[in-house]
Amino acid sequence: GNVIAVIPAAGVGSRMGTNIKKQYLNLMDRPVLAHTLGVLEECPDITGIVLVVAPGEEALCKKMVLHGKEFTKIMAVVPGGDHRQTSVYNGLAVLPETTELVVIHDGARPLVQTGEINRVIREARAIGAAALAVPVKDTVKVVNDQGLVVYTPPRETLWAVQTPQVFRYELIMKAHRAAKETGIFATDDCALVEALGRPVRLVPGSYENIKITTPEDLVLAEAFLRRRKQ
Ligand code: CTP
Ligand code: MG
Repeated sequence: GNVIAVIPAAGVGSRMGTNIKKQYLNLMDRPVLAHTLGVLEECPDITGIVLVVAPGEEALCKKMVLHGKEFTKIMAVVPGGDHRQTSVYNGLAVLPETTELVVIHDGARPLVQTGEINRVIREARAIGAAALAVPVKDTVKVVNDQGLVVYTPPRETLWAVQTPQVFRYELIMKAHRAAKETGIFATDDCALVEALGRPVRLVPGSYENIKITTPEDLVLAEAFLRRRKQ
């Protein structure tokens, strides 16, 4: 069946703090988003790509990212919304009913690798929902609004979740529609499936699959790319 990637790339990048939005910043030879799309383009399991960009930015995106590149899998470039969740929803809305699996992957995660994507797809096909994740390295504390520690969850129970997050088509449509109706906003798509009480499998990934979020992430990403080339 069809395995279609939805790529939210409509954020403003406030934590990066640059004039040019982070997805359009150069990482070595090309923009962050061009790296991300390149991996998905090369991934044999993925049959199509729906790219979500800021409203009115379709032309800029084509100029900066798609220019001179053959991204043959891109089916649509659609406008995003104010929240990541809204952007993903707008992408889901244009998927054909024949879609079997939806691979949701942040435009700002250029270092994902084909093997990782394949592993998540396999798990999602089996149980309905799966995501790449890594064990947290730091101890994480829950704090109140005064900055006082409320409690410390045991570290061995904590995983930092990444993308891709892969879902059976009907399940992710149901989860997003339910979230929209009840007004739930989450920072990842698995949370919407969890809210339905349905199982989500985490697939161990790589610490290299960082989300480009703050300026030091670009330094790290470049170091990882250089190391891969050696
Ligand atoms: N995203 C989106 N639409 C939004 C917000 C985010 O498509 N309204 C996308 C981003 O472009 C990014 C991914 O979701 O590829 C992860 O979001 P995040 O890292 O938070 O990016 P930004 O929201 O752009 O950054 P910030 O939160 O620092 O403003
Ligand atoms: Mg954000």
